[in-house]
Amino acid sequence: MLDRRTKEQLLSEIAAEVRACTRCPLHATRNRAVPGSGDPDARVMLIGEAPGYYEDQQGLPFVGAAGQLLDRLLARAGLVREEVFIANILKCRPPKNRDPGDTERAACAEYLDAQIGIIQPCIICLLGRVPLQALIDPDASVTRIHGSRIRKHGMLWIPLFHPAAALHQPHHMPALETDFDRLADALRDVTDP
Ligand code: URA
Repeated sequence: MLDRRTKEQLLSEIAAEVRACTRCPLHATRNRAVPGSGDPDARVMLIGEAPGYYEDQQGLPFVGAAGQLLDRLLARAGLVREEVFIANILKCRPPKNRDPGDTERAACAEYLDAQIGIIQPCIICLLGRVPLQALIDPDASVTRIHGSRIRKHGMLWIPLFHPAAALHQPHHMPALETDFDRLADALRDVTDP
């Protein structure tokens, strides 16, 4: 188990590498890379798809409308953004917010794997289809397994709908809210088994 200062140091080294990264063509179209942000000792890590317009402008994850909803959902689970760590499958925005390509994902995977290894969260929330399929099972359906608990590498992985899905299709909102209630239950179970 790494101490907090070491984690901070290692995470900032990764962030610097990401900001200078030219491993895939997305570096040419990005304004700012988005390495991820939050508590190096987070018990909960949230992984989204890729930066959107506002994230690319600010260099921070989930700062647009989906991010505001995410903050409200986190509050439901008794959490604030500062105590979780938020990252994405891709660190750079794909043009027109298209799905991440396989080579982009492969080029970026090492950064996220390293962040997970340093933070060692108890729970990883996968926000939407892209992180679920990239990190758990390429054929998995978020509609089918959202809110469930998957054990892998000594952590609990919880697939959730992406907050943007509930913004575009409000009928997903109750499921998303229930899933964040389940996150609160899971957190209680892992911290006070
Ligand atoms: N959507 C994502 O998946 N990630 C972000 O950082 C913002 C919006």
